[in-house]
Amino acid sequence: MTQQLNAAVIGVGAMGANHARVYARMPTTNLVAVADLDPDICDRVARTYKATAYSDYRHMLESEKLDLVTIALPTHLHCQAALETMAAGIHTFVEKPLADSVAHARTMIDASHEHEILLGVGHIERYNPAVIALKQRLETGQLGKIYQIHARRVGPFPPRIQDVGVVFDLATHELNVMEYLAGTGIQSISAEVKRTLHNDHEDLVSGIVRLEDDIVGVLDINWLTPTKIRQLSILGEQGMFLVNYLTQELWFYENRSAQDRWDGLATVGVSEGSVIKYELERVEPLRAELEAFVDAAINGYNGLVNGEEGLRAVYLAEQMLRASRERKVVTLPPYKPIPALTRAASSNGSKR
Ligand SMILES: NC(=O)c1ccc[n+]([C@@H]2O[C@H](COP(=O)([O-])OP(=O)(O)OC[C@H]3O[C@@H](n4cnc5c(N)ncnc54)[C@H](O)[C@@H]3O)[C@@H](O)[C@H]2O)c1
Repeated sequence: MTQQLNAAVIGVGAMGANHARVYARMPTTNLVAVADLDPDICDRVARTYKATAYSDYRHMLESEKLDLVTIALPTHLHCQAALETMAAGIHTFVEKPLADSVAHARTMIDASHEHEILLGVGHIERYNPAVIALKQRLETGQLGKIYQIHARRVGPFPPRIQDVGVVFDLATHELNVMEYLAGTGIQSISAEVKRTLHNDHEDLVSGIVRLEDDIVGVLDINWLTPTKIRQLSILGEQGMFLVNYLTQELWFYENRSAQDRWDGLATVGVSEGSVIKYELERVEPLRAELEAFVDAAINGYNGLVNGEEGLRAVYLAEQMLRASRERKVVTLPPYKPIPALTRAASSNGSKR
């Protein structure tokens, strides 16, 4: 019989309600409780999935015997709640960004070590099949030398997000994916930000980063665009990969000159070759992510995107804001990204 772990979700708004659904449906988990300050939201989710509703998550931690919990509260509340769930001995999965500051993220990691508790972070694009397939193709050398990674994450403003700006809320996705795909660390950051509709924080960022191995990264991110676009392209010697995160599509635009070259690109230039769209099995990245979390809880660390990676993304976001505030290129100390996902990636989220 499949081992079932008791799971709960703290904060069942837009994202937390999805965690509740996934825990309720996975054969390895039993959604026992949800907690949210908003009684209507809380009761609705609890009723839908036959879980117990709590308005106070502390009451839930005292009353329920939990193995796993997701924290999907507004970002500034992640740290406090995670310290309490980890002190209660519960494996803790925190939505991204891990925290609203490097100092909070460090405290959370320290607590996970102290209590010997898993700390997973919701960098969901790492479980997107198009990103996983792209990483595998980069590792085979299909693109040759990488020149540039270009990330575009734009869309309308979500009024519920008041505590952080686009750099923490959205750029953290792309900063994490860039280092993961390149397999090298970001060495320097410059950025321009703008605040137009948001009350307190930036709602647009244009960032330029430089990664080791002479790779340039471009981030075009905002909450001001009337349509949602989530795209990443990687340009290299052999052509260009293009990922559509939303449709989970991966394309390759081949550089024909690189295939036929007889005396080097410098004289031949770049020319259009074949265009390939890879056939990928679509999966729900959230399900794959929580399967990796459950797997890590049962079998030990498996390449789950963990607190260290969450901290790194928060650190890079802080440095990006600093670069824009101080209007300078911020140089960072050397960093080696954590190696690629192993078991979680090859399972494609459907091994159970
Ligand atoms: N991985 C992703 O792609 C992704 C997508 C969306 C949101 N998120 C992250 O998820 C987190 C939540 O975002 P959201 O969009 O779901 O926000 P939301 O506002 O829809 O949900 C937050 C919920 O927390 C509840 N809440 C607030 N304070 C509380 C408290 N003290 N105790 C209990 N409940 C409390 C609110 O009532 C609300 O229902 C954020 O950190 C956000 O960055 C991640």
